[in-house]
Amino acid sequence: MKKERMDMTLKNGEIWYDTQGNVLHAHGGHILLHEGVYYWYGENRLEDIYVSCYSSTDLVHWTFLNHVLTMRSPARENRVRGDLKLTNQNGGRVNIERPKVLYNEKTKQFVMWMHYENGTDYSCAAAAVATCDTPAGDFVYHGSFRPYGHMSRDCTLFADSDRAYFLSASRDNADMHMYLLQEDYQNVEKLSGAFWSNEYREAPALVKKDGAYYIFSSFCTGWAPNQCKYGRTDCLEKGFGLLRKVGDETTYHSQPAFILTVAGTETTSYIYVGDRWDGRDYHNSRYVWFPLVFHEDGSAKIIHCSEIEIDAVTGRMEWVECER
Ligand code: DGJ
Repeated sequence: MKKERMDMTLKNGEIWYDTQGNVLHAHGGHILLHEGVYYWYGENRLEDIYVSCYSSTDLVHWTFLNHVLTMRSPARENRVRGDLKLTNQNGGRVNIERPKVLYNEKTKQFVMWMHYENGTDYSCAAAAVATCDTPAGDFVYHGSFRPYGHMSRDCTLFADSDRAYFLSASRDNADMHMYLLQEDYQNVEKLSGAFWSNEYREAPALVKKDGAYYIFSSFCTGWAPNQCKYGRTDCLEKGFGLLRKVGDETTYHSQPAFILTVAGTETTSYIYVGDRWDGRDYHNSRYVWFPLVFHEDGSAKIIHCSEIEIDAVTGRMEWVECER
């Protein structure tokens, strides 16, 4: 279905289209700001595609750039990990979820981490890595693995001022693990934290504000939405303390994908980007972008709104708040 997108408002839960009028598929994704351009990477399960990439400078009009990871993606030549194939034993699809991309200044590489499964029962529970020397080129697949043998499902990446981290749900989702990445971001260097033991958190999304780190996550209920909770810390390696509820019991019918920081000329805004999954028809899943407000006392609030307008230059946002 094709449609023109005319105005500057993002309407939560509606079908979003790219600038060519095609449905925008970037589920469970991540936005990377690089040299003034926002790149939105996310899952696309149509045909032989795994990850698609779109770009925007205004955060509203998204131009499709490339299917950056597909069943035909090139594999890294020098074999460093077990599987270098993005197909199953029958030549069919594997399952790639929650792709996240960081830019590595030292290697000048764009590095993607993701959740990899080669069946439908989620028993593979592995992470996978791919790299590219341009933001939206054909990423080269490096293979999948379990970090230090640990199960690894829902995941995210986070770049701090000096180092970067990969976080993923481990031990059948019971624990959240945080791995310090090697300097090139292409492998883990150490397990630097295991927290929320037996809390079964999925969909981690991390953001830093004024020196404090906040991590948002969901509980495990398949495609059905549940209560988002967050933790806060001043030091990543100390863990995130107690989980606190944010939003309502379904997080306004969404699950965290990532937190977008918009640092403008007038202010810095934070946006909770969530997936509104359609469990019966995955391709019909939608997005919600909600303002995320941090209070002086360290608490966070997700504002439930039906639409949002973001000025990517000034950083200001406006929204139409929902009554409940
Ligand atoms: C919840 C996860 O967060 C999603 O990425 C996906 O794996 C679904 N579960 C599958 O049920």
